[in-house]
Amino acid sequence: MIDLMVRIQEAKAHINRHLVEVPEIGLILGSGLGVVADSIESPVQIPYKNIPHFPVSTVEGHAGQFVAGRFMGKKVIAMQGRFHYYEGYSIQDITFPVRVMKALGVEHVILTNAAGGLNPDFTGGSLMLITDQINIMGVNPLIGPNDSNLGPRFPDVSNIYDHAFNQKILEASKTMAIDLKQGVYFYFTGPSYETPAEVKLAAMLGGDAVGMSTAPEALVAAHMGMKVTGISCITNMAAGIQKTPLNHAEVVEVAQRVQSTFIRLVSRIVEI
Ligand code: 6GU
Repeated sequence: MIDLMVRIQEAKAHINRHLVEVPEIGLILGSGLGVVADSIESPVQIPYKNIPHFPVSTVEGHAGQFVAGRFMGKKVIAMQGRFHYYEGYSIQDITFPVRVMKALGVEHVILTNAAGGLNPDFTGGSLMLITDQINIMGVNPLIGPNDSNLGPRFPDVSNIYDHAFNQKILEASKTMAIDLKQGVYFYFTGPSYETPAEVKLAAMLGGDAVGMSTAPEALVAAHMGMKVTGISCITNMAAGIQKTPLNHAEVVEVAQRVQSTFIRLVSRIVEI
């Protein structure tokens, strides 16, 4: 296996051949939320399949490319489609793009996802600002040799989702009349949705939403000292709370339904 730092540098070199400026903000767009990338001006598209050491995305509704350019006047690079542990890649590989974004110059990463609601104040279509996360899946992307040039062996994760910045986002959402909820993201690997018993457990343990992404990427970003923002689009209530069976088509459909509010919110976050 080629050294992590070498892989990062080779992926970075490929992407840099296409970029016209150094990105400052990274966006990872979840299921049904990839449309945000369409608002990027002077877009440069870089398919993952051409990038050395990148896995190849397999999930429907995920485009599988970086889109770089200007968004709200800021230099951004967006991932239209991300990698999930349930696709069969290693937990280190699915978070590799975050390492590469940092190497490219990104200091703030905005992670978005579709998630199931646990908090009874939520409904399908709610947007939730992530305040913290729970990962008891036994998979941590920081497992393995630690390169201290990237970050510490034992990173502090007491403020992954920058509390002070989150306050600014909450204030901004109020002035925009967006009903932005807040809560703890509870990570499950998937690909099966949770059983009603698992949903009860997650709620009992302090989760407000359940999802199959974001937490590993947030850990890797925190490891490298990046600022992290997380937004969950609650596409449905989790199993047992919602009485009808869950399906991916519905997740994508609801995410697309709140698209315009989602884009307004993300635009403002990028602007702040
Ligand atoms: Cl209910 N669970 C998980 N893990 N991910 C989801 C979801 C539920 N709804 C949308 N994404």
